[in-house]
Amino acid sequence: MCGIVGYIGKEKSLPILISGLKALEYRGYDSAGIAIFSNDKIEIKKSVGQVKILEKVLKDDIDLVGHLGIGHTRWATHGIPNEKNAHPHNDCAKRIFVVHNGIIENYKEIKEYLQNHGHNFLSDTDTEVVPHLIEDFLKDKKDFHTALLDTLKMIKGAYAFAIIDSKNSDTLYAVKLSSPLVIGVGKHENFLASDPSALVGKTKNVIYLKDGEIAEITKDNINITNLEKQKTHSEIVRLEWDLEQAQKGNYPHFMLKEIFEGPEIVLSALRGRLKGKENFVKLGGLEQVAEKLKETKRLIILACGTSYYAGLVGEYLFEEIAKIPTEVHFASEFRYREEPFEKGTVAIAISQSGETADTLAAIRKAKEHELLTLGIVNTVGSTIARETDAGVYNHAGPEVGVASTKAFISQLIILTLVAVYLSKSNGHSKNHALLQELEKIPKKIKTILDRSSELEKLAEKYKNCDNFLFLGRRYNYPVALEGALKLKEISYIHAEGYGAGEMKHGPIAMISENFPTAAIVPQNSVSEKMFSNLEEIKARKGPIFAIATEGDKRIVSLANDIFFIPKTIEPLEPLLTVVPLQLFAYYVGTKRGFDVDKPRNLAKSVTVE
Ligand code: G6P
Repeated sequence: MCGIVGYIGKEKSLPILISGLKALEYRGYDSAGIAIFSNDKIEIKKSVGQVKILEKVLKDDIDLVGHLGIGHTRWATHGIPNEKNAHPHNDCAKRIFVVHNGIIENYKEIKEYLQNHGHNFLSDTDTEVVPHLIEDFLKDKKDFHTALLDTLKMIKGAYAFAIIDSKNSDTLYAVKLSSPLVIGVGKHENFLASDPSALVGKTKNVIYLKDGEIAEITKDNINITNLEKQKTHSEIVRLEWDLEQAQKGNYPHFMLKEIFEGPEIVLSALRGRLKGKENFVKLGGLEQVAEKLKETKRLIILACGTSYYAGLVGEYLFEEIAKIPTEVHFASEFRYREEPFEKGTVAIAISQSGETADTLAAIRKAKEHELLTLGIVNTVGSTIARETDAGVYNHAGPEVGVASTKAFISQLIILTLVAVYLSKSNGHSKNHALLQELEKIPKKIKTILDRSSELEKLAEKYKNCDNFLFLGRRYNYPVALEGALKLKEISYIHAEGYGAGEMKHGPIAMISENFPTAAIVPQNSVSEKMFSNLEEIKARKGPIFAIATEGDKRIVSLANDIFFIPKTIEPLEPLLTVVPLQLFAYYVGTKRGFDVDKPRNLAKSVTVE
């Protein structure tokens, strides 16, 4: 959470910082601020709310001309969102300016110690202890680098910092532990960001800072050392994202653009991996561990949020296609499990950002237990991608809308491919129908998107509801959970997703004419049971909005509203059933007047535990 940007170079830093902050706004948008080295001193500006408000505040500021600066967009952890808590924070002498992502766990003790030593604090944040600590260490006539190292040795927690010092107009400092930070390498200029999406259009060459590294960045040089002051090896990685992918284009919101990218997302995830005629799936990213994977006896999927729901679909896929027992854990809960891990257990992390703190912690725990770890990650070079033993990239391009849509689709595709890859029947005609059908999915998604206006009308009808129940079975049970999550995330309507079989064990008590149900009921092996559940809802006057298969006549007498989807095979149904639910949530959210790309209280990349 929180977005960090930094710039040093030949250009004026202000517009670069602002455009970087806008690109990172999905990480937090409670407040924003910048500090720029201008006319021999560091100028600082902050505002509450979105970056556009900061931009307005800065509009007439002709003094901010400097070529070195840092910026921050905040997702509040310690202290309410107000101007004094917004970053950057500084020391008493207004020499050192810091922006921070993460949490300093022992900040209270440090703050007390510093206050007893005469330091004056202005905010309620944990971050503010950092410039004051550096200031304190500098009193012992230490050089800045040593004072910074001593500070890092004292603080506990997770952090990414960008720091500037008004006694040194040539250097931008960057430090990281557990929270991501990436350096954009330019020509006579260098950039810093907490997420590579802020660098799109500026440079394609990036260095991901590793835990415990300190970078001293000038316009022509990047010097990276560890806590022992030794130089470390850093690789330049090439970003594959382009500017067009990171912009809204003609769409009113990123979320809508990203839903409409669905067919292309499926193609990108399949590209080069599917040998349809040979019934063969080839996953280059797993080749190095192919032998080990042959011994897989059990799979553990670790993820959060929408990625977790993709994992739940994966559980059905792996058991049906690969015949491997699979379980899915909330990454945040996995750490509390004390189960014995047998040999042959493989942990798979699913993460769009590749930076979710809980998923990363879960993968680290799996590694401590010597499990083989795999990543299904969208962001190339991200921490989870680097820390897992092997993995498969989604190649879905940057996802900007906070509510995940296209990443979910691409995760389902990758999970299907991995399931076939792990199955003994990879390359056998047994998978023929599945692989052939996979190739037809983009066109089928397109036919759904072409009828988005039907969902817009339904959204108009249901937009004033206070509650919504989502029901599905088998492969569509996780889709019910995801449909409910989408609706609550962006429209703030209370929504619950349930396995339809569980309905009679609680949710049915809520059903009334004012409590609608979205039923995911395509024609498949469980539709008879779904129909029985819908009869029960109808008998209690509950309105039903059904996602059903084209040509299904039976649903007509049961549901009040129906959105028809093309027929596909059961393991691939979620790829189609989730799309109308994403669109429905989008239209309800926008019709209720909310900024669906930046839902309240949420952040896209959750880098605190
Ligand atoms: C946040 C986002 C969700 C996302 C989840 C997991 O809650 O708002 O959209 O699904 O984090 O993120 P990851 O990047 O690990 O997939």
